[in-house]
Amino acid sequence: MALAFDEFGRPFIILKEQEQKTRLRANDGATILEQMDVDNQIAKLMVELSRSQDYEIGDGTTGVVVMAGALLEQAEKLLERGIHPIRIAEGYEMASRIAVENLELIAHKFDFGVTNLEPLIQTCMTTLSSKIVNRCKRSLAEIAVKAVLAVADLERKDVNLDLIKVEGKVGGKLEDTELIYGIVVDKDMSHPQMPKQIEDAKIAILTCPFEPPKPKTKHKVDIDTVEKFQTLRKQEQQYFDDMVQKCKDVGATLVICQWGFDDEANHLLMHRNLPAVRWVGGVELELIAIATGGRIVPRFQELTPEKLGKAGLVREKSLAQRKIECFTLNTVQIQGLLAYLFAEHELLHANQLIIRDIPELCNKMMIEETKRSLHDALCVARNLIRNNSIVYGGGSAEISCSVAVEAAADRYPGVEQYAIRAFADALDAIPMALAENSGLQPIETLSAVKSQQIKENNPHFGIDCNDVGTNDMCEQNVFETLIGKQQQILLATQVVKMILKIDDVISPSDY
Ligand SMILES: Nc1ncnc2c1ncn2[C@@H]1O[C@H](COP(=O)(O)OP(=O)(O)OP(=O)(O)O)[C@@H](O)[C@H]1O
Ligand SMILES: [Mg+2]
Repeated sequence: MALAFDEFGRPFIILKEQEQKTRLRANDGATILEQMDVDNQIAKLMVELSRSQDYEIGDGTTGVVVMAGALLEQAEKLLERGIHPIRIAEGYEMASRIAVENLELIAHKFDFGVTNLEPLIQTCMTTLSSKIVNRCKRSLAEIAVKAVLAVADLERKDVNLDLIKVEGKVGGKLEDTELIYGIVVDKDMSHPQMPKQIEDAKIAILTCPFEPPKPKTKHKVDIDTVEKFQTLRKQEQQYFDDMVQKCKDVGATLVICQWGFDDEANHLLMHRNLPAVRWVGGVELELIAIATGGRIVPRFQELTPEKLGKAGLVREKSLAQRKIECFTLNTVQIQGLLAYLFAEHELLHANQLIIRDIPELCNKMMIEETKRSLHDALCVARNLIRNNSIVYGGGSAEISCSVAVEAAADRYPGVEQYAIRAFADALDAIPMALAENSGLQPIETLSAVKSQQIKENNPHFGIDCNDVGTNDMCEQNVFETLIGKQQQILLATQVVKMILKIDDVISPSDY
């Protein structure tokens, strides 16, 4: 680098070996688009885009990136033709509004109720059909819908998904996945001979240990005779006995303990027919207390019958090598509980739903994938409760929007119309990708479906991905949520507009 002066005495800097620098110089987005595959700054934006879709909607995260990619690809062509990026951004904005309005027009509202869950289930099934778990899509969709409905606030049209826990357990099959209206604790009864099932359980929830008080460090116990040892032993036993008796006196039929207890106490509990679970974590203890209406008791002296938690059914269920404790409410109570949840929302947090999910092959990756898929399905069910409008999938909604946007382009006399047409072409990317991924000829399939939509004036025609024999997505029950699809288009447009407005990028390595 050197400082020099021009003929008017103004200083300027000469940069040496300019050609070796990877500085990108441009006054529009063209360079960024050209460099898209090498400049990961854009890739980061795509990742962000996908994340936003996930955060807002929970599904459609691939589609949104495909759409943004297609919009960028189209923009590149326009830039090559000399259209200014600002004009392109404006055209895209107009087109996205037309597309979003068109979605509103072709959307259907459906009614659902506790007795008619089918539309909700079908929409969740569409989400799951593109996942590895699609073998069980029906049962998983049912689980997702039931779980969401159990915690939904139908009046406020909202769902707090935090009330639904998805737990993965190694050692079973995908088919074993089940919905539990209650709490699952990954613990077993402290003694194998204790009953595995307790009906109408009265639960003592204890944070005090089942053990005699320990001598303080200052004190010591001298045992020099057998008699002394016997007395001590008796005393210890008496302690245990008193503790067990205290629990029995208040009417507890199950003890949940935060601490462990030794074999002696364990044996006594078994002997006195008081089943117990030990080493239950603090959070779980709190959940149990909330769900069963019990109180956490820190001292045996404080145990009273009112502080006991109540559960319709507590059962130990073993799956493969591991055992699980389930606090469930019996059938009658489940119905009661649901009605209660709908009526009394403030107390909703008191009930946790846990879906136990046991995917096949003991494969952790499979569990993670199942959890993600279930998350998508839960989000879709939630979205439908927020807004019960659906559009048809399989690319049919995109094709319909493409037709609408293309038709609208003629109304714009300015340069924007090129961008609007380009937007219509970009919308074709999703049906084309679906066709290609199903082994169909993308362009031929798309044009056939598009002309069918125009000819029959029916926006339900899409790509028959599974070769069912009809490409009417209404007949195939391929539904997607209206808000999800709208969000995809809006977010993709936003990010592309943002990229188009960047006009100079310096590679990070050259800072
Ligand atoms: N049975 C089906 N027939 C035709 N198209 C289908 C069918 N099931 C799903 N689709 C379509 O597949 C697309 C969804 O694919 P996929 O779930 O892989 O991506 P995404 O929802 O965009 O992203 P992600 O699920 O990863 O967040 C949608 O366009 C949907 O309409
Ligand atoms: Mg999906």
